[in-house]
Amino acid sequence: MKKTTIFTLAALGMMTITSCFRDPKHPGLEYMPDMAHSVAVETYDESKNTDIYADGLSARTPIHGTIPFAQGALFGETRHSAYMPYHHPNTPEGLEAAKADLNPMELNEVNMAEGKRLFNIYCAPCHGEEGKANGSVTLANNHAFPMSEAFSYFTDVNLAITEGEMFYITQYGKNSMGSYATQLNREERWKVIMYVKSMQAKFKAENATASAPKAEETK
Ligand code: HEC
Repeated sequence: MKKTTIFTLAALGMMTITSCFRDPKHPGLEYMPDMAHSVAVETYDESKNTDIYADGLSARTPIHGTIPFAQGALFGETRHSAYMPYHHPNTPEGLEAAKADLNPMELNEVNMAEGKRLFNIYCAPCHGEEGKANGSVTLANNHAFPMSEAFSYFTDVNLAITEGEMFYITQYGKNSMGSYATQLNREERWKVIMYVKSMQAKFKAENATASAPKAEETK
């Protein structure tokens, strides 16, 4: 008799303990239902059957093709262009249209510093830290890489490249230069271009006094 009672109690005890582990998502005993079940309606939640919309959904799904604006969502910046599709195809017409694109990033010290940092990592190995096409990759193996000073950013031809065209080049590459679209996002590339343009502007300012551009720069 006494043994049966102990057995029954033990069995009940086991059931109580194991029942806690049956469904990890089950809250078990709810002594404060308000805490377990949020009163707030989650986005796109239809379980609460609110009367906000006729179908019970708590919010409308975005219109097809909507691009997230995400202002300040990442790195505390305006990331307005990060999700925008690149509309120019990799064609001569695409390049022509791309030339008019303007840098959407604000010209400020923070963006410029980041552009410089990224340039020195991603571009300087070929283009050189000063943009003179004399980076370590360019100089290696006795100039084995098809890059020469003709590709310096300071030739007349390259000084005339617009920032929109530069962006197009980072998107699709140019001859032996590959695309940087997967290494750097759009905003990073625009920051790099901001820095390249600042190097060019500095060069132009320094050479403005010497009326005509130097012959050796136009090779
Ligand atoms: C692997 C070496 C290499 C790297 C790294 C590289 N480039 Fe280039 N880039 C080249 C070569 C080579 C050319 C010249 C292509 C041609 O005209 O034949 C070029 C051309 C350019 C041009 C056009 C000017 C010109 O001389 O034709 C721009 C602008 C440019 N690169 C920007 C960048 C930027 C910005 C980065 C970094 C995100 C970068 N490049 C990284 C090799 C490189």
